[in-house]
Amino acid sequence: MATSKAIRQVLSGSLLPRLHHTDLSTNNFNSVHAIKTNVNNTREKFPVSMRVLKSCRRVYALQCRGGVFRGKTGVSRAESIGCKCQQAESVSGVTAEDHNETWVMGREESRPSVPVNGTSSALSTEEFGIGEQLKHEKGVLITNGELAAAGTIKDALHTGGVNLIEDEAWNLLRDSIVYYCNNPIGTIAANDPSSSSILNYDQVFIRDFIPSGIAFLLKGEYDIVRNFILYTLQLQSWEKTMDCHSPGQGLMPASFKVRTVPIDGDDSATKDVLDPDFGEAAIGRVAPVDSGLWWIILLRAYGKCSGDLSVQERVDVQTGIKMILKLCLADGFDMFPTLLVTDGSCMIDRRMGIHGHPLEIQALFYSALLCAREMLAPEDASADLIRALNNRLVALSFHIREYYWIDMRKLNEIYRYQTEEYSFDAVNKFNIYPDQIPSWLVEFMPSKGGYLIGNLQPAHMDFRIFSLGNLWSIVSSLATPDQSHAILDLIETKWAQLVADMPLKICYPTLEGQEWRIITGSDPKNTPWSYHNGGSWPTLLWQLTVACIKMDRPEIALKAVEIAERRISGDKWPEYYDTKAARFIGKQARLYQTWSIAGYLVAKLLLANPSAAKILINEEDSELTNAFSCMISGNPRRKRGQKRRSFII
Ligand code: GLC
Repeated sequence: MATSKAIRQVLSGSLLPRLHHTDLSTNNFNSVHAIKTNVNNTREKFPVSMRVLKSCRRVYALQCRGGVFRGKTGVSRAESIGCKCQQAESVSGVTAEDHNETWVMGREESRPSVPVNGTSSALSTEEFGIGEQLKHEKGVLITNGELAAAGTIKDALHTGGVNLIEDEAWNLLRDSIVYYCNNPIGTIAANDPSSSSILNYDQVFIRDFIPSGIAFLLKGEYDIVRNFILYTLQLQSWEKTMDCHSPGQGLMPASFKVRTVPIDGDDSATKDVLDPDFGEAAIGRVAPVDSGLWWIILLRAYGKCSGDLSVQERVDVQTGIKMILKLCLADGFDMFPTLLVTDGSCMIDRRMGIHGHPLEIQALFYSALLCAREMLAPEDASADLIRALNNRLVALSFHIREYYWIDMRKLNEIYRYQTEEYSFDAVNKFNIYPDQIPSWLVEFMPSKGGYLIGNLQPAHMDFRIFSLGNLWSIVSSLATPDQSHAILDLIETKWAQLVADMPLKICYPTLEGQEWRIITGSDPKNTPWSYHNGGSWPTLLWQLTVACIKMDRPEIALKAVEIAERRISGDKWPEYYDTKAARFIGKQARLYQTWSIAGYLVAKLLLANPSAAKILINEEDSELTNAFSCMISGNPRRKRGQKRRSFII
């Protein structure tokens, strides 16, 4: 298997960033042997992944061995990447051979690594320690030394038909797996046989895969997550355009799809190709800002859970992390440290009035910065990036904790705000007019509890409560410990509104009437108390559970899981629920929505073994806290402070 020197250079990352600055001819790649698979067999077994896109695109097949990309084309515009799958070759033979092969990208050439298809072994990590090393027996997650305790909790949890629900969920999750050249690489968004319009729910969404990936990690099934991380990394280098305009290079797709296409001139042979969507086909044509952030978070979780740090250490993976960071940390016109994004760039992927600096993106951004800092290899070339990252972390946490936080005290402060303060030491920095305080909030705000608002712009505070942003602010320590407890207090106090008959409201309250017309553009899917507009999303259970475990209040999550268990399986795992109290299955909700299934499973697995939540949590960083205190004392709200400083951490 001769690999040319040029290819090796590319594969080893020395010619990164990928898919650029290369003069390699396609011929070079044809010399790389492709994995040979029995496609007929594959089609029968995994029909969902093989559905063909309506519009066929140009195909530049990147050939892979053992399901791993080995190179790239010399063309400047790639639209699909793929691997050849030829009939009549022995699948088992090739697979067995490939089991023994090492990865050929990045650093893998210079040192041994985990086989592509082989079973990775769970290594103990510092976080888990020997006593907590995860083990898996007969599909039941247990921890060394904690077997009895875990068992007791599980027994308590597994009353009645709960075990059956979990079994069903695992079967459904496995049925949703998408294969690429016979390797599991993700899960489709929904597997709803009753739905006549599939839209893009047969694709692997990056954000939707996160709970699936975590469920597999917690179950000790690491390969699918590893494959997902590495294949989506390849998609990052896509040259993507919309109407002749290209977004930034580090962008990760919102979703991708596997297609099986015949190889020219050979009827008996096919190849699998990956087709990403960066938003150029998505409804509203919005770039998914959250994808890259979730990718970094999952990468860290993979390393922590599996103990296999070789993935995050690879040169191409390091480059991928840096590309995402560079895109997020690029200078712009902004005065704020928060990321400025367009509407629909995250879980809420349609117009819902969240353009600007939505909390969800800021929480994921903060989390991804912390995760990336942990994983970036220390090297001189990254010094500037790491400095920028540290400065951003401090500024971002200050900004969110100070200006997004709202509770009874802060609300009263806003109520009495002076406006039009032209000065350096204005109290009402963003010129918020007190009349903006919505009447629902005056009634709603409990004396105990608080939350981070949805968005902050000049003269505008979006007072809606967005669950994911608040929960992930707890998980990532973007919120202070006091704020984190207060958010959970609010969820407990306002249970009837936020949880009701199905956890959890995506946002509260809903937009109605004229506001709905103007803000959503009269979106018939986002009608009041439906979908993104105050609908209830079972997938949010997993983020709720991680947040509750972090704050040592798992009983809140346990209660929410019990509520979900009453209906979710009988209702066929809907994507979302409608009405104020979440009583109806969503009007246009898909059934058998994978992240509803995976979210439930992750919640169950974590409640049975809370220490495993560490793979997702970012603990409060004491150096950041110190820097934060310095900023607080220099805050003009209290007193105009010193000159602008940068904090070197
Ligand atoms: C909906 C959700 C989005 C999700 C997609 C696929 O559009 O709003 O967050 O990724 O469905 O499930």
